[in-house]
Amino acid sequence: MDADTLKLRAAERALDYIKPGMKLGLGTGSTAEKFVDLVGTRVVDGLDVVCVPTSEATRAQAQALGIPLTTLENEPELDLTVDGADEVDESLRLIKGGGGAHLREKIVAAASARMVVIADDTKRVSKLGAFPLPVEIVPFGWRATLLMVRDTVVENGCKGSVTPRGSEEDPFVTDNGNYILDCAFGQIDNPDKLAEELSRLPGVVEHGLFIGMTSSAVISGENGVEIIGAAP
Ligand code: 5RP
Repeated sequence: MDADTLKLRAAERALDYIKPGMKLGLGTGSTAEKFVDLVGTRVVDGLDVVCVPTSEATRAQAQALGIPLTTLENEPELDLTVDGADEVDESLRLIKGGGGAHLREKIVAAASARMVVIADDTKRVSKLGAFPLPVEIVPFGWRATLLMVRDTVVENGCKGSVTPRGSEEDPFVTDNGNYILDCAFGQIDNPDKLAEELSRLPGVVEHGLFIGMTSSAVISGENGVEIIGAAP
């Protein structure tokens, strides 16, 4: 099975978590995109849901599909968010932000009673960190923030590079007008502590470690779909 089919299988199974009348958070990325397509089809068939997108890309996709949208300003408490991930470990800790949307993704997930992650089994890891950890920072003083992030990760036993996404002349800019630092460590021995310490740094808006936020992961592989955590 190719990667696209595996992503689709996970997205299809995640539909089981939706109930009519729900307020849904819609994730970002190629796996979440498949889920949004499926929600769009269900909406055409009469499913009653209202959704909050986690990025401008997802907003545009959902709008084009005719999915009713709202905002967290209007609906600050959601029933369920379904989103992809760059890595998921056995404790349902995640690395997210490969698409640079983790700030909104985390806000929307935190506002949701449940977060379901959808992924193919290449995202499943025993230890987080092979995927570079994204850290969103404000542009003001970004070089100073980069140095603080570097010191903090070293103090937490993480070895590797911390580099701005894009180039210095043309940095990647998030939907929120911020920059991203990609922290390539290979492995993160204590993700919980690193998450806390990065959150303390001035200039850091949000990092891509999602700890204690995910209720279920729907993982698809060659042998079918496996659910870690709560069933639908
Ligand atoms: C975007 C994300 C995505 O969910 C993550 O990068 C996974 O994307 P994909 O499904 O394309 O592999 O966190 O910020």
